[in-house]
Amino acid sequence: MPLQPQNAWSAEERYKSLFGSLGLRKSHLVLPVFVSNSPAVIKSMPGVEVTPLHKILKRVQSIADSGISSIIIFGIPNRRDQIGSSAFDRKGIVQCAIREIKSGFGNTMNVATDVCICQYNLTGHCGIVSNSGRISNDATLNILAKIAVSHAEAGADVVAPSAMMDGQVHAIKGELHSRRLNTSILSFSAKHASSLYTPFRSAAFMKTNARLDKSTYQVSYSNSRQALREIETDINEGADMVMIKPALMYLDLVRMVKNTFNYPVAVQNVSGEYAMIKAAAMRGWVDEDEWKVHSIASIKRAGADKIISYFVLDIAKYL
Ligand code: PBG
Ligand code: ZN
Repeated sequence: MPLQPQNAWSAEERYKSLFGSLGLRKSHLVLPVFVSNSPAVIKSMPGVEVTPLHKILKRVQSIADSGISSIIIFGIPNRRDQIGSSAFDRKGIVQCAIREIKSGFGNTMNVATDVCICQYNLTGHCGIVSNSGRISNDATLNILAKIAVSHAEAGADVVAPSAMMDGQVHAIKGELHSRRLNTSILSFSAKHASSLYTPFRSAAFMKTNARLDKSTYQVSYSNSRQALREIETDINEGADMVMIKPALMYLDLVRMVKNTFNYPVAVQNVSGEYAMIKAAAMRGWVDEDEWKVHSIASIKRAGADKIISYFVLDIAKYL
């Protein structure tokens, strides 16, 4: 049979078929939502909105309308201090957003929250920086646990510690347990030190330095054994799901973790991965839809159970 010069299927048909054969469903997708007090745009993430608190219900309604039922909230507070105290304020930006969403949507919207201090403190580091200039791991654990409890009490379904402090899952689990809160823990277990977070940091930190070196606590690119150890530790500490990020450069690890531990794995397709596609597509250098679809398809093929991506609403059209 002669080969057709062109695939007879439309792009939409091909994408639907690809996702169908991989078994991807809307329930596997999680949309990051930035919440702040005032509206803002993220220059290096065109198309990504920062939702002001008073519009959060409308925003979540439009997400629900597209059939997506899971979000992860990243807060952008309007004040910072030494220890990042607005991160565990009962009336903080994330806590208020959770309460609104839960009173409006109940169980129909699954709400996860990023648990870290770097958007809220003065240094932009994910741990408390001691007088000697070192990250003080254990002092940070108490604060992370307080943040997680405040999110859980506001009604979060899942808390997702992203600080990469040793023992963070154990510390959070203990505090949740002693308050009889049965919120799940999704640990950012193998969060690699990466320049691919720069667009996120430029959104979250605005004035502070977006090029901080977090390599003393985030995982090294070169060491897959370290990534596996971090995952194993978090599973042992009681994480309900572990996460690997960024996505595309680490898909070998996703498969390795899936095969080794057979445990629920989430993958975050991060801000730099979003920005690369957008920047090239805006110049007409690549086919945006195809690259997005193939990115998400490859993450699913590697074994991800949940995929956190800024492209989730675009992908939902094909599911
Ligand atoms: C904060 C946090 C970061 C990301 C998620 N949570 C930035 C960082 O560690 O510096 C990255 C998300 C993204 O780039 O999309 N702990
Ligand atoms: Zn952080």
